[in-house]
Amino acid sequence: MAKRGPTYTCQACGAVYHRWQGKCDSCGTWSSLSEEAQAAPVPGARSSGGKPRGRVFALESLKGDTQDAPRIVSGIGELDRVTGGGFVPGSVLLIGGNPGIGKSTLLMQACAALALSGRRVVYVSGEESTGQVRLRAERMGLAEAPVDLAAETNVEDIIATLGQGTRPALVVIDSIQTMWSGEVESAPGTVTQVRGSAQALIRYAKTSGACMILVGHVTKDGQIAGPRVVEHMVDAVLSFEGEGAHAFRILRGQKNRFGATDEIGVFEMTGMGLSEVTNPSALFLAGRDQAAPGAAVFAGVEGTRPVLVEIQALVAPTSLGTPRRAVVGWENSRLAMVLAVLETHGGLRLGQHDVYLNVAGGLRVNEPAADLAVAAALVSSLTGAILPAESVYFGEIALSGAIRPVSVAGARLREASKLGFEAALMPSGGADAGDGGGLQLRRFGHVTELVADIAS
Ligand code: TYD
Ligand code: MG
Repeated sequence: MAKRGPTYTCQACGAVYHRWQGKCDSCGTWSSLSEEAQAAPVPGARSSGGKPRGRVFALESLKGDTQDAPRIVSGIGELDRVTGGGFVPGSVLLIGGNPGIGKSTLLMQACAALALSGRRVVYVSGEESTGQVRLRAERMGLAEAPVDLAAETNVEDIIATLGQGTRPALVVIDSIQTMWSGEVESAPGTVTQVRGSAQALIRYAKTSGACMILVGHVTKDGQIAGPRVVEHMVDAVLSFEGEGAHAFRILRGQKNRFGATDEIGVFEMTGMGLSEVTNPSALFLAGRDQAAPGAAVFAGVEGTRPVLVEIQALVAPTSLGTPRRAVVGWENSRLAMVLAVLETHGGLRLGQHDVYLNVAGGLRVNEPAADLAVAAALVSSLTGAILPAESVYFGEIALSGAIRPVSVAGARLREASKLGFEAALMPSGGADAGDGGGLQLRRFGHVTELVADIAS
């Protein structure tokens, strides 16, 4: 039997210590440890004294079991795309995002859509009263949807309420940070409480077969506050992102046991709630300033869907000892790499210049395929040469300066062609370009060719 006594839990990452210390060894945060009584042992979790209690199954004998649990499709296409084709019964999903980004709005819309299709849906709000939730639903024109509302923060009470009446298909807990369990002896809001509450709710989902969605707040540095531990316990983690100044929001999968994690869903916040954006490229390219140096259109792919975005670069002489490098929507280290390659192999002198890079529209690009568009935008801004507005760019740049082929070139080209582009600047290698969507294909093997092309 393990020693029982007070433990100290880091409120930032959930690491547990047996004595107090000033700094958490696990995440490096100072003064984040607080004393918490140890959780009581779970009833019924005694050891079985050596008698076998579990059962094993042959994998193929379970074939029929998975078919009688079809996915619950919300009907909101952009949401279903990210979950991998609908919610899985008995699964638990964590959705994180900054306050005010629209998590409650999105989930209320999903609840209303499912309730209108005849399923029992329960929306538990720990932050707003039922009156406030109803007001929001009214504003979105969903006040008539038969969603069960509850303003409750104690998980035992919630689970008891859920047990009454028909079994719910979907339960939304808004938010997990407001929940507390009577079985855990620490203050609400602490990591131990969040973890204990999440455990109880997950156990309910697994035994009842309801799909459970937990809302999680995000801290300033973009992590789901406190319950990092919860991320490991749930089946899927989605993040809802967006720039304050822009109306559109991106739902992105970070972990998904039942689908791909690279799909994104795009929404626009309107006065009537969130509306789906089925053609994100048109949205991201709207309002493009065509005749300016430093802008290049990147033909990207998010999951299975091609997305065109404008990459903007500004290269300006610096007045600082160490020039500035600032990036929005792309990786800092990737920009540093492209700059180093352009200096070494492209003959550009950037040491006396500040460099700013921005992905227009608030999208975050993760693909290395954006290297070529970034390089073109940088060279264009430095030289003042305007890039042709009807061209798209894609290709990965190696440290040697070679331009490497990237995946799904065909889909990128077709999307560009659909949006009226006429040419694509792309790697010389690679096969699957297909017919190129009718675009003029201009292939490059090395950054020196790109630099020479832009300068000419
Ligand atoms: P909300 O869903 O409450 O955010 P979260 O749950 O992530 O904290 O969304 C709040 C913001 O959305 C708020 O600033 C107002 C805006 N909003 C609209 O613009 N239109 C709408 O129809 C609704 C319901 C909210
Ligand atoms: Mg909310």
